[in-house]
Amino acid sequence: MVEHPAGGYKKLFETVEELSSPVTAHVTGRIPTWLRGSLLRCGPGLFEVGAEPFYHLFDGQALLHKFDFKEGHVTYHRRFVRTDAYVRAMTEKRIVITEFGTYAYPDPCKNIFSRFFSYFKGVEVTDNALVNVYPVGEDYYACTETNFITKINPDTLETIKQVDLCKYVSVNGATAHPHVENDGTVYNIGNCFGKNFSLAYNIIRIPPLQAGQSACLQMSSFGLTPNYIVFVETPVKINLLKFLSSWSLWGANYMDCFESNETMGVWLHVAEKKKGRLLNIKYRTSAFNLFHHINTFEDNGFLIVDLCTWKGFEFVYNYLYLANLRANWDEVKKQAEKAPQPEARRYVLPLRIDKADTGKNLVTLPYTTATATLRSDETVWLEPEVIFSGPRHAFEFPQINYKKYGGKPYTYTYGLGLNHFVPDRLCKLNVKTKETWVWQEPDSYPSEPIFVSHPDALEEDDGVVLSIVISPGSGPKPAYLLILNAKDMSEVARAEVEVNIPVTFHGLFKRA
Ligand SMILES: [Fe+2]
Repeated sequence: MVEHPAGGYKKLFETVEELSSPVTAHVTGRIPTWLRGSLLRCGPGLFEVGAEPFYHLFDGQALLHKFDFKEGHVTYHRRFVRTDAYVRAMTEKRIVITEFGTYAYPDPCKNIFSRFFSYFKGVEVTDNALVNVYPVGEDYYACTETNFITKINPDTLETIKQVDLCKYVSVNGATAHPHVENDGTVYNIGNCFGKNFSLAYNIIRIPPLQAGQSACLQMSSFGLTPNYIVFVETPVKINLLKFLSSWSLWGANYMDCFESNETMGVWLHVAEKKKGRLLNIKYRTSAFNLFHHINTFEDNGFLIVDLCTWKGFEFVYNYLYLANLRANWDEVKKQAEKAPQPEARRYVLPLRIDKADTGKNLVTLPYTTATATLRSDETVWLEPEVIFSGPRHAFEFPQINYKKYGGKPYTYTYGLGLNHFVPDRLCKLNVKTKETWVWQEPDSYPSEPIFVSHPDALEEDDGVVLSIVISPGSGPKPAYLLILNAKDMSEVARAEVEVNIPVTFHGLFKRA
């Protein structure tokens, strides 16, 4: 295992300034001439407002990053997203909107009566769009997991406007991981208040080129195939009553409203895409946390669902406070030992059930050891095939050749390797043979690898992988954009910049 005693990863969580105009990056190696366009990524860039710190990884104010590739040259640009949370923090020089793990204290200048009235005006939900950026038709939106998304200009990185999804669809929040089909149709899952304060999930479908009518609290990604939608219900939930009542309490934030059910395990739900109707099959398995689906596809009456899981019911976000992530290496390791352990898994869901098969394994596909057993209570109990496992080593932030293989049978996935939550390598995984290829350098901290296929690609992995890497020990150029050959994860080129680049979560490559 690689060690990080110098603690260079702490730089991932340091405030930086935005740029007034793009800067030129210093290229070593040769940028492929076919690589033309922009890598857009989101993450936190401001970790405190004056003397008030943000506490959680998902609290820092949203910074939008862009690397432009043109004729072998690379430029880097970044701007803070002008969300309400950011603009008001800048204006009032304090944290105004409560974030995921940081409570915003009421304005001390307001007396108790105005505070009382502002409570009845409703809760102010954050629009801090730090998680992802995605296209809807011709437009681009930055988002977090609430009902607010922010339209941005992908060329200048300027903020255009905030969009409240509640005005278009009846949801209170939507995942930061929508699926975009090749015709531009966007699918997302949102949650809404059901009967008796139960939480219901709504599938949101946005037809192509209906800009403005775009999509919008613990929710992970979901799976999408040509005919089905797979949603994994994990033991970690927002307690809605707690959410509504504690919101008015002094000091409460989103993290205080989560509950983990110790007995329910994980339930998987499958809906028919065209009818939007749930299948009446109850799939169950043991407890895990889930943030990212790798891919999902159909094969001969089965759904194959590949996931990046964290074993157990305790909420992994409990370990993602900035104080934990900025700790010295020995302490980081000690904390991560206690956390749920990561494992990439394949689940196989039979779509047709016959009562006569009770007690039997229903999975008849030759290439997987995953099982699905029909129980006498008519639930289907799933056991996974492990596709990647290493002690305290996660294969996370998975990416695939999405345009050609999203929702279809596939072979390769690219992921960020987390070593006790510290991102320290990039990994390619063959989900069929479990063979891996790794890029890793000492004291270097990469981000989610984005696959960009070659325009004349014949094979699934013909192309490059893009990742932002920081290597704080390396002198005047502490960060770079790394280009790897997707075949074997060998370096093709890097484009270095003279500024630090804090952690980014998700993004996309926009072809020119
Ligand atoms: Fe995510």
